[in-house]
Amino acid sequence: MAIAPTQALLISHDQSILDLIRLALEGRYGIKVSTAASFQDVQKELAPSPDPRYRVVISDFALAGRQLASCRPTLARDIAYSFLAEEPPLHEELPDGTSLFEFIKLPFDSNALFTHFESRGIFAPLPTAESDQTFCRIRTTFLLSVVPLCGDIYIRLSDTKYVKLFNEGTVFDEADAKKWGEMKKQEYLYLRRYHAERYADRLAGNFRDILLAERPGSPPCTDGLAAQIAENPAVAFEAISEVSEAMGFSPRVLKLARAGVEVALVAVQKSHNLKRIMNSMARETGRYLSYHSFLAGHLACLIAAQLEWNNEATFEKLMFAALVHDFTLRGTRLADVRELKDLDNLNPKPSKVERQEFFDHSLRAAELCLRFKEIPPDVDYIVASHHEKPDGSGFPRGISGSRIALLSSVFIVAHDLSEFILDLKSAEAINKENLVSFFEKRNYLYTKDSFRKILKIVPKLKLD
Ligand SMILES: [Fe+2]
Ligand SMILES: [Fe+2]
Repeated sequence: MAIAPTQALLISHDQSILDLIRLALEGRYGIKVSTAASFQDVQKELAPSPDPRYRVVISDFALAGRQLASCRPTLARDIAYSFLAEEPPLHEELPDGTSLFEFIKLPFDSNALFTHFESRGIFAPLPTAESDQTFCRIRTTFLLSVVPLCGDIYIRLSDTKYVKLFNEGTVFDEADAKKWGEMKKQEYLYLRRYHAERYADRLAGNFRDILLAERPGSPPCTDGLAAQIAENPAVAFEAISEVSEAMGFSPRVLKLARAGVEVALVAVQKSHNLKRIMNSMARETGRYLSYHSFLAGHLACLIAAQLEWNNEATFEKLMFAALVHDFTLRGTRLADVRELKDLDNLNPKPSKVERQEFFDHSLRAAELCLRFKEIPPDVDYIVASHHEKPDGSGFPRGISGSRIALLSSVFIVAHDLSEFILDLKSAEAINKENLVSFFEKRNYLYTKDSFRKILKIVPKLKLD
């Protein structure tokens, strides 16, 4: 008996592509998907009679051409063929007789694939109740630090479709991180939000272990997160940010944030090597906020040290302010916006609500700080003024130099410098010449009061 033609055949020599597409199609459409490494394998399996099962064939373009032609008699006539390739193939390269040919651009993007099938009426998505609201995004490599896993772990196939990969209690090891993170390009995996509290507690425990290992005579911390933080301390901010995005800024997240700030401060004291942070940022996308926040805190502490404000309380305030100053922008498309004028570069154009959200973000983050007495004093003020400028041209309040507190001035300059450094794009560009260049470019702005004194420190900063 013929089986209903609601299936797909995937042909690729790349196992990771096969797995990703299969998961995506099965998850979204509830169809059965077969995979094969080559057209010859398909032919061997299906020959000699035509097989009515397949509605679509998806293949690496590299495997197409004659191979497809030789295989076609075994496939039904009205099949839709899709070829995966990094660049669209030339017309003369297309195999003969493909009735419905489409090209799908690599690297693989599940949303593009879904649009492709759904806009042509080939498949329709299953109704689903799950959505982004239900899940908490976690950087895949962070899962190494929470084994055995503190909840089921999912892969996200679309805004509304998630498929379980690992059960709670299983071990997620280096091989898993490599397979899903590097080979399958899944930078993030997902945990259900109701398990996020457990994850927050585990992370806080990991931060404490990292801090304990710093005590003289203590054994080194072998936790996976410790190694990632040693390589790039901005990772600590990212871990906190993910949890707070899922849970809001709760007392539990505050506990985690305090431990994370301490970890970040230890990392800053150990090394000023911003080049390594820059290098890892160049490899990764979508992490601007965590990197920029950490860098602003790092630079603020360096400036404070030069001003001889060498006390732990000052460093803690500055680093805390750095962590939370843009917190309310996380997870929005406003996360990468720096100034009010940059809002006009967003595509599509920002709504009134978005404009207001950006305009108010410093005050909203400050209000967040005021809700918790555990947050060091002054952090709210530093956060509230991080977009103010000494000439009064900043926002949201437009206050000027003499009304901006000293610690806030340090943070404003450090925040500005962090954006300048991230714009350099290359680690090699973090050098004395560019610090002097920052000094010269900001000479017109930081002219008054304490700002002048702070700006003069910038060219003297030791960044490696
Ligand atoms: Fe910022
Ligand atoms: Fe901001």
